[in-house]
Amino acid sequence: MLPPKAKDKLAHLLGPRGYLDRPEDLSLYEYDGSVDKARPDIVVFPRSTEDVVAIVKISHEYGVPVVGRGAGTGLSGGAIAVAGGIMIGFARMNRILEIDLENERAVVQPGVVNLDITQAVEPHGCFYAPDPSSQRACTIGGNVAENAGGPHTLAYGVTTNHVLGLEVVLPDGSVFTTGGKESDLPGYDLTGLLTGSEGTMALITKVIVRLMRKPELVKTVLAIYDSPEDAGRTVAEITARAITPVAVEMLDGVMLQMVEQATHAGYPMDAAAVLLIELEGLREMVEEQTEQIRQAASSCGAREVRLAKSSEERELLWKGRKNAFGAVGRVSPTYYVQDGVVPRTKIAPTLHFIGEVGKKYGLTISNIFHAGDGNMHPIILFDARKPGDLEKTRAAGEEILAYCISVGGSITGEHGVGMEKNEMMSHLFSTESLDMMRSFKRLFDAGNRLNPGKMLPTGKGCLEIRQPALGPRAQAY
Ligand code: LAC
Ligand code: ZN
Repeated sequence: MLPPKAKDKLAHLLGPRGYLDRPEDLSLYEYDGSVDKARPDIVVFPRSTEDVVAIVKISHEYGVPVVGRGAGTGLSGGAIAVAGGIMIGFARMNRILEIDLENERAVVQPGVVNLDITQAVEPHGCFYAPDPSSQRACTIGGNVAENAGGPHTLAYGVTTNHVLGLEVVLPDGSVFTTGGKESDLPGYDLTGLLTGSEGTMALITKVIVRLMRKPELVKTVLAIYDSPEDAGRTVAEITARAITPVAVEMLDGVMLQMVEQATHAGYPMDAAAVLLIELEGLREMVEEQTEQIRQAASSCGAREVRLAKSSEERELLWKGRKNAFGAVGRVSPTYYVQDGVVPRTKIAPTLHFIGEVGKKYGLTISNIFHAGDGNMHPIILFDARKPGDLEKTRAAGEEILAYCISVGGSITGEHGVGMEKNEMMSHLFSTESLDMMRSFKRLFDAGNRLNPGKMLPTGKGCLEIRQPALGPRAQAY
């Protein structure tokens, strides 16, 4: 429980409309886009960096954990208050502070919605490149904390490649800035260290992002297959031809049916897999590469290769892809999305393994993923109301991730580790590497009050994390 005095101070600081603490309100903040749940003791809504500093100072005084939260669209429990305490919702810090078109930079508050940046600069021929499927809702602060990705990061890179500077608040209330509008400033790359630190080191209060110029031409290809293996081989063949599309997405047969029934985007319902491939750049290059893609897909057994004929057709295909999770929600009461990474050459055996895991547990597992990056999103359909279903689902997910590690991959490509996979970090990193990460964490947050129980292995269950974290004593990590 939050000490009553701490609550009084927060209420006084933020005013009656600046916080929520009734159980029915808090229940909206206890989950994200995945399957874990934990309720904060209070959710506060600062309007400025000064408010964040004051909140953090109160949390420091009373030894209460603090977790930052954007739109709550995360997929690894990063913004869940596993240890209770104060949740800082950044919804009111949602202003674009500066757009500097000449230098291709924007300065934004953490609660700005990802797509709003692109919409603000689109009339000037610019865009913000990282495009998670949740980009209509997810916010930049969360994107930076999780180092979010998206379909178009194959050529453009993930969030860390587009963040040049930050303003952050430390758990003792001190404020500092990292990086700047300039590229490659000297000194340690603190912006890089904090991007992807999953809210465990600092709270982000300002972000300087890179803007990109729109390309001359965009072409979108849909390659249709009767076998997922052929689609997987095409991905390797595209690489062998030294072509880097901006996106290479794969949808399997089960997913195609769910997506097409929900969105009518023009996907075939009888195929075993499709690749959605996008090429961008100068006209001559894109036209030449489109032809190469057509040849690569055909030589790997595609039964049809379609080219989107208009921007409407293209947008519809992307609408289908990016709304796929809503489509799954129509068919299954609950689902669990995984985020394993494998070398591109291992996509086909990984798909086979995922199929075997589905059979073993008697669960439907469908696949929609960033094939170009080898970033797999097996989606396990289950019914949380059925006793034992969630446990089976978690076990299936863990087997798939263990397989990804065994073929030279990783447990996350873009959703973060969070509270979902932190215990698996020891399968990926040596004790020495994890100790080094812990020592960085301690440098920023010696009392382990910022987003405790996330990213690094704790060796504890959720309940154990919750109990000691609520005392006034600082605890060691
Ligand atoms: C996607 C999210 C789940 O690729 O990462 O749609
Ligand atoms: Zn994804």
